[in-house]
Formats: sequence, structure tokens, C-alpha cells
Amino acid sequence: MTKPVILTGLRTNAEYHLGNYLGAILPMVNLQKEHAGEFQVNMFAPDLHSFTTEVDHSALFAQTMQNLKVFVAAGMPIQSPDFYLYRQSYIPAHSELTVILNNFAYFGELSRMTQFKDKGSATNATAGLFDYPVLMAADILLYGAQWVPVGEDQTQHVELTRDIAQRFNGVYGGDFLKLPAFTNPEHSARVMMLDDPSRKMSKSEGGDGCVYLADSEEVIQHKFSRAVTDSEATVRFDREKQPGVSNLLEILAAVSGGSIEELEQKFAGVGYGEFKQAVAQAVLTELGPIKAEYSRLRADEGYLDTVLQRGRERVSSEARSKLVELKKTIGLL
Ligand code: AQP
Repeated sequence: MTKPVILTGLRTNAEYHLGNYLGAILPMVNLQKEHAGEFQVNMFAPDLHSFTTEVDHSALFAQTMQNLKVFVAAGMPIQSPDFYLYRQSYIPAHSELTVILNNFAYFGELSRMTQFKDKGSATNATAGLFDYPVLMAADILLYGAQWVPVGEDQTQHVELTRDIAQRFNGVYGGDFLKLPAFTNPEHSARVMMLDDPSRKMSKSEGGDGCVYLADSEEVIQHKFSRAVTDSEATVRFDREKQPGVSNLLEILAAVSGGSIEELEQKFAGVGYGEFKQAVAQAVLTELGPIKAEYSRLRADEGYLDTVLQRGRERVSSEARSKLVELKKTIGLL
């Protein structure tokens, strides 16, 4: 019997940051640990999504391969027969399904997607940026994913995927396309820039407020020491009045496993300087083993090629047969 699928992908246009790790990678690692053997785990590089923001084409291939190593270093079960690691662009069915699903997505709803509104301006928005949620829907629906762990900014796209699937099923009957559900992490579903807690941490924006997984220990400590706080002088969770401190509390809760209330009590009366140092230290403790494993893998190109080849073979046949069934359903075959 086929197992239910958990699936997530992270763009490889730049290096991953703490938000990517806490919003999507860590939840994926935890989910598969908690439910070992119960699910098929699809983790992939949506590399066709690379061009929706400015990208250095000469570095893209190497960046994609390096980022794939982060998944491995973070603890994904590479040896498990239930784990599929792959690159989206190597599986043509993703693109073909997108063309079909475009006919089930409305111009109006795509225009209202927050990411489109945030990233596209009236003059330079491309069709690729506009259509990227439909490609994401294809990424998910092709494998009938049940759970899609994402950060908060991608929740809307998973909801759109459900709408597209429902519309398709409404026309062709039954439940041919499985409706996915998103999961957001309890903490850090939206990690904010350390130097401007009103903005989401983002890899294409980068800057001093963005903590990259590849940053050195010193750089991470420095970035946290410069984190914007407030004049309240109390470690309390209040997104409105104390967005910087709240962001730090969420990061700490996510990496330490404690609740926000426990952390507020623990740091009652503690100065912001000491608090920021404690958060930096907890982040370094969390990232330490991943950084060590990543350095080891960085030099080993052959290993990743083998894992990717295996993933590609497995998902290709699954994706192909789903597409053939879908084509029969809509009258193309
Ligand atoms: N700041 C964040 N906090 C929590 N989760 C986040 N994610 C992204 N930023 C944060 C989650 O990471 C996954 C991968 O996202 P993506 O690379 O596919 O695209 P994105 O959401 O647009 O991520 P970025 O970092 O902001 O990239 P750029 O700047 O290149 O567009 C998703 O699950 C996302 O929610």
C-alpha cells in the first residue's frame, strides 16, 4: 500500500537562512522523526522557481547543489526507502501539469497572492512570478501530498492549491486530486529580520538582519548582538509593542523547545544584551551539528549525485503515471 506523502521544497536562489530552517526544514525533520516509516517524505529543490526574483545564473547550479546538502546535513533520512530527494527541473511532469492547472486558476486570485503583491511591482512583475503559485500547486498535487510543512508566507499558496484541486475535481468528478493540508511550526512560522522586525527574513533581501546558516559563529553572534529591540527593557512577548524582542523569543522557543511563557519567566529582569547573547548561543547550539555535517558534505559531490539520482528515478515514475492518469481523465489520452 502506498504511504501518505509529506512534501516540502525550498527555493535555491540563494543561501538558506534561519527563517527557512525554522519555518520549513526543522519541521520537516521533526515530522519524519515523529512518524518514521508512516510517510513517504518528498523533499525537493524547486529550481524552476529560481527566476521569479533576480538570480545570479552563473552561481545557480552550484547554489542548488549546496542547498540540497543542507537538507541532508539537517538530518533528513537519506538512507530511508521512504525518502525522496530531487530537483524539480529534472521531472518534466511538474511543468506539464502546471500548463494544465493554469486553466483552473483565476487571474484575480493569482493577483491577490501576497507574495506577488510584495515582490512584483506594476512595471517589472513577470508572468513567471505571477504563475509561480500554480507551479507550486503542481509540485504538490502531482504526488498527492497530504501534509505540506511551510512557513506562514507560503500558507496562502497551499490554500490556493486546495482551491485549484477542488475546482479540478468539481469539473472531472470524484477526488482525483488530493487536497493537501499545510502545517506551520508552533514558533517561528514567520522569522523577522533582526535589524527590522517589521520585515520577514528573506534570502533574496539578505543584509545584516538575515542570519544565514552558512554564517560563521562570530557573524551570527554579531548579528544577534545588533538585533533591534525597544525601550521597554523587559523580555516580554508582544508582537505589536515589542516586535524585536518577540521575534527573538520565538526564535529561542523554536530552538530550545521551551514555551514562550517559560522563557519570559526565565529572562525576567535580564538585560537585552544578555538575552540576545543567550538567543545567539541557543541558535549556535542548534546549528552546530548541521554546520559540521554540511562542511563534511560540501566537499563530497559524488555522494549527493547518487542520492539525487535515486530520488529522480523514484519520483519520475510516480509523477509520470499520475500525469498519464490525469491526461486520461481530461481527455488528452
Ligand atoms: N522568514 C521566514 N520565517 C519562517 N519561514 C520562512 N520561510 C521563508 N522565509 C521564512 C519558509 O521557507 C520555505 C522556503 O521558502 P522559499 O525559498 O520557497 O520562498 P520564500 O518563502 O519566498 O522564502 P524567502 O527566504 O523569503 O526567499 P526569497 O527572498 O528568495 O523569496 C517556505 O516554507 C517558507 O514559508
